[in-house]
Amino acid sequence: MKCYYCNKEAIEEAYGKAYCEEHFIKYFLGKVRSVIDKFNIRGKIAVALSGGKDSSACFHALNKFKFDLLPFHINLGIKYYSNKCQVEAEKLCNLLGYDLEVIYLEEYGIDLEKYEKPCSICGTAKRYLMNKFAYENNCKYVATGHNLSDVVTFAMNNVITGNILNFRGNKPFLEENLEYKLVAKVKPIYYLKDKECMLYAMINELPYAEEECPHAENAPTLRLKRWLHEMETEMPGMLLNMARSFWRIEEKIREEVNLNKCIKCGYASYGKICKFCKLRKKC
Ligand code: AMP
Ligand code: FES
Ligand code: ZN
Ligand code: ZN
Repeated sequence: MKCYYCNKEAIEEAYGKAYCEEHFIKYFLGKVRSVIDKFNIRGKIAVALSGGKDSSACFHALNKFKFDLLPFHINLGIKYYSNKCQVEAEKLCNLLGYDLEVIYLEEYGIDLEKYEKPCSICGTAKRYLMNKFAYENNCKYVATGHNLSDVVTFAMNNVITGNILNFRGNKPFLEENLEYKLVAKVKPIYYLKDKECMLYAMINELPYAEEECPHAENAPTLRLKRWLHEMETEMPGMLLNMARSFWRIEEKIREEVNLNKCIKCGYASYGKICKFCKLRKKC
């Protein structure tokens, strides 16, 4: 198969067009640019690097657009896995000429290894620390490497588990709310699928950790993601349509959410004390 834009051999197909390596990179950066332009992203961005392929690709792409970037990594203290992730994030920063800021979850007295199912605790801690880091470093945004496959899988999982009131993260952009110390969140690779992020990372020879978190192995969401991708091959564009539908649903639900300030830390909370402060107390 030949590239739609030139005569070279195509390496990937997306939405009915085939791309050679050079034009695939242009396609990828074009999708990132569409998020930047649509939400008029300008100013300092804290880039959350997990050490995985998606946030590596996201950081590399943002760097192409000459933003003021502050990359950081949260070391979650998960044996073997976390150190490997940190090393890969450090390698990427060295390659692109940045220093990596590292936050250690351990310093907040939280040990994920103590929990049988740490994923939701980990999620709460990551969201809190990402926002806190960006806020304290005067960043206008936190950028994460959530891609289209992640967004749709997460939303579908919320639907499947009946967790619809906690429906969030479906949009590529979430406005800041500085009264509640909430920095704006942006997902620059929102329109790109798992496979496309992998390809971008491979073409650019980006360092990234290939391992999955040991707590996520065999997670039903991984099977759900596989299934969604199978459906996507049969019905190209399905993931994008689903993401847009979930995005609209979230907009409707958000109007009803009441925010407070946590009486312990002063950051945003749904109750009197935020989930993160409750976690710290328990440990
Ligand atoms: P996950 O929650 O693992 O699906 O990751 C989604 C996004 O959150 C990643 O693409 C990163 O941008 C960010 N992220 C996840 N884990 C970390 C971490 N340990 N440190 C910094 N950012 C992270
Ligand atoms: Fe959070 Fe695995 S439990 S990354
Ligand atoms: Zn081409
Ligand atoms: Zn708090």
